[in-house]
Amino acid sequence: MNYVLITGASAGIGEEFARALAAEKQNLILVARREDRLVSLATELSERSGVSVEVLAADLATAEGAENVVSAVTSAGWKLTGLINNAGFGDRGSFSDLSLERQLNMIQVNVTSLVALTWKLLPNLKENRDSFIVNVASTAAFQAGPGMAIYYATKAFVLSFSEALHEELRGSGVAVSALCPGATASEFAAEANMTDTRLFKAGTMSAEAVATTALARRRSAIVIPGLRNRLMVWLGKLSPRLITRRLAGWLQA
Ligand SMILES: NC(=O)c1ccc[n+]([C@@H]2O[C@H](COP(=O)([O-])OP(=O)(O)OC[C@H]3O[C@@H](n4cnc5c(N)ncnc54)[C@H](OP(=O)(O)O)[C@@H]3O)[C@@H](O)[C@H]2O)c1
Repeated sequence: MNYVLITGASAGIGEEFARALAAEKQNLILVARREDRLVSLATELSERSGVSVEVLAADLATAEGAENVVSAVTSAGWKLTGLINNAGFGDRGSFSDLSLERQLNMIQVNVTSLVALTWKLLPNLKENRDSFIVNVASTAAFQAGPGMAIYYATKAFVLSFSEALHEELRGSGVAVSALCPGATASEFAAEANMTDTRLFKAGTMSAEAVATTALARRRSAIVIPGLRNRLMVWLGKLSPRLITRRLAGWLQA
């Protein structure tokens, strides 16, 4: 049986990816730490859409987390037609004030586990000549982010890595896409201590709109959902880096 594996499926954009893919009749493997949420989502989606939904509880802030996911997929013999590396988190604060441990965990979840899952699951994805990888970056990927230095840097990594992989895998049957959402309604802002920032107060997109846009364009190298977000990125490209990094700092002050 074929499956799409989604990390960070217990909330927000990942949960909406799961709902949209179940509606497409795709079987799913849901990954996150909060197993209870994954189990209730799996029950709901399998009852409503008649798809098969597997649950893997894993902490992707540890190297073992990604390793356990890969081992479970391999030992069950699940064939993958899609991988959505969506799990991630941010934290607002200056580099020196935030704890080193939390920032290293952020790099592990947002970057290292994403790379490990991609590398280790790629042979499985290549067996099917029509599969896809969506790596969730952010509009944060396009400039430096004072006040969230490590988060912005992790997303710049995800964008650059995914864009390169998109080209490397052209013709392999595996499409790679970097999804770059702007402010989105989910648990992210509360987790990142950002609910009172100018960025989030200016309005958010729904997680559902972000996920459905990403899936509709899953073969595009870069997907920026929402006109406002595309405009911000476009204006940023026309501006000196001094301006874009100062603006990013102002938006999340
Ligand atoms: N919301 C935004 O404004 C926004 C904008 C741009 C990009 N993004 C990106 O979009 C992605 C999804 O975020 P979201 O907005 O949907 O946030 P969310 O509602 O907070 O969901 C984050 C998901 O990541 C999972 N996760 C976090 N830490 C994990 C860990 N150590 N191990 C395994 N799973 C972990 C969470 O599951 P558990 O807690 O159950 O483990 C949850 O399912 C992230 O990569 C984020 O950086 C979000």
